[in-house]
Amino acid sequence: MQITEERKNSLEKTYQYYLHHEAILKMKEIPAHMGSNVYIHTFKVVKKVMKKALKSHKNLDLENLLVASIFHDYYLYNWRTTKDRPRPHGKHHPHIAAANAKRDFDISEKSQEMIKTHMWPFNFFNPPKGREARILCNADTWVALIECLSTRKHKAKKENKYLEDISHLF
Ligand SMILES: [Fe+2]
Ligand SMILES: [Fe+2]
Repeated sequence: MQITEERKNSLEKTYQYYLHHEAILKMKEIPAHMGSNVYIHTFKVVKKVMKKALKSHKNLDLENLLVASIFHDYYLYNWRTTKDRPRPHGKHHPHIAAANAKRDFDISEKSQEMIKTHMWPFNFFNPPKGREARILCNADTWVALIECLSTRKHKAKKENKYLEDISHLF
């Protein structure tokens, strides 16, 4: 899908705003798969999502998709050490992330819906609806899989490279 320079700049601006936002930076403290953290994981997913979306021949809602990707894991707690949390994590965190994003940034209903379905097929009865939601779900699965397959040592060594990689959307 071809987009204008103006639209590209506007997406980059939104990306940069959230990348440096105090509330989002807190995700750096939350561990993700095998030594990764939720901040790096999140923006890796965002970049993959945008790459996929721009390759699509369909007209997509990139703005809502971008926001949904940024907040898809905005659940804000370490699920391994937090005792008082809904279980299982895989089922509940999409709903918690969507509610937190609505509370802190008043994100759109459409973005919230995409967030809530990103764990399919884990949440089997809650599949992604629409092309954008499917792109987010697939990108998240792929990034999580790669993170799970590489060692903690490898990720620690690459942390600066990851931060460099996610420093820009385009
Ligand atoms: Fe997730
Ligand atoms: Fe994720």
